Amino acid sequence: MAKEHPRSPAEMAAAPQVLDTLHRPVRDLRISVTDHCNFRCVYCMPKAVFGTRYHFVGHDGLLQFGEIERIARQFAALGVTKIRLTGGEPLLRPRLEDLVARLAAIPGIEDIALTTNASMLSPEKAAALRKAGLRRINISLDALDEDVFQRMNDVGFPASRVLQAIDDAAAADLRIKINMVVRRGLNDTEIVPMAERFRGTQHVLRYIEYMDVGNLNGWKLEEVVTAKEILGALGERWPLEPVKAQRYGDVATRYRYVDGQGEIGVISSISQPFCGSCTRARLSPEGQLFTCLFGTRGHDLRALLRDGGTDETLYETLAGIWRARDDRYSELRATAVPQGGQKVEMFHIGG
Ligand code: GTP
Ligand code: 5AD
Ligand code: SF4
Ligand code: SF4
Repeated sequence: MAKEHPRSPAEMAAAPQVLDTLHRPVRDLRISVTDHCNFRCVYCMPKAVFGTRYHFVGHDGLLQFGEIERIARQFAALGVTKIRLTGGEPLLRPRLEDLVARLAAIPGIEDIALTTNASMLSPEKAAALRKAGLRRINISLDALDEDVFQRMNDVGFPASRVLQAIDDAAAADLRIKINMVVRRGLNDTEIVPMAERFRGTQHVLRYIEYMDVGNLNGWKLEEVVTAKEILGALGERWPLEPVKAQRYGDVATRYRYVDGQGEIGVISSISQPFCGSCTRARLSPEGQLFTCLFGTRGHDLRALLRDGGTDETLYETLAGIWRARDDRYSELRATAVPQGGQKVEMFHIGG
């Protein structure tokens, strides 16, 4: 039976879990609040494709904050405790802090985080987000070298400004992770310099294997620098040791510098897929629900909401979608070519 309000922690522990066909519960909701972005990262929104004529979701098509909150509330009732806001570039959505405040008030939601390119993260914005209930922020930075970084974001945005935004976020008391997508021949020379820059800070640098998301980035296996190669390059310079996972289903494998200078992570979706513990649901800016980053088909929740669907119907719909889930794209990648048409794009679903 659906509930207007999510269960208390005690009720939640006692409640029967909604599991998918591979026995995975739903624990994380990744919400993409816009498909617009002011960068044109070559591995995500190559300029040749995403020029001025590309059709993005229009204002009326976007889920409003109230609609997002309603969906998040029912997900919390299903067991979601962690929400991540993404895009496109989520800070392009005006007053994102208002959405954070709404989500922070939902019982059962313990962790709200943001993934951003930080180009719009002023000290004021960081403080407003923190005040609204944001605790953590993941900032994408693929290189320190200005030529390399600007070639990667392809809009000439300086790395120095991202570094400033990282300091601003730290000053606002946000916990910070740095995301570096590594693509061979493009920024693999930056693996060691990036480690050097963030060693000895509280910020956790994560190296991300370049993934075959979407259909448009011309992904090639040869361009993937594997976690093993990355750890090899770092370990030669600074010995590393594994750290226990913080939370079931987290995507990054953690390591610490033996000399006590902090922690790094590797996200090895290509070389060591982690579908077996994937507890993530993804909501697109126009209210399509995807049960895998590599999904080809979403479920239209916006229509349900705008046609007057009740919270009970919403809950049952979400539960039904989750029970039917059988996604494990990354595990199948090695052996099969996925069937069923165009995959959702990265900038649309937010990683
Ligand atoms: P934390 O909660 O801080 O650990 O964040 P996160 O790593 O889950 O989120 P973030 O948005 O920083 O994503 C980091 C990278 O992991 C991005 O490249 C995502 O696309 C990738 N990623 C996140 N979830 C999944 C997933 O379910 N499958 C795959 N294949 N990649 C994922
Ligand atoms: N492979 C791996 N990570 C990617 N990201 C964007 N495109 C890709 C890709 N093809 C990263 C962004 C951001 C996070 C949400 O996903 O750099 O840090
Ligand atoms: Fe780059 Fe993120 Fe924008 Fe994609 S959504 S172009 S990865 S900043
Ligand atoms: Fe989850 Fe799909 Fe990523 Fe596997 S490929 S971890 S099922 S989102």
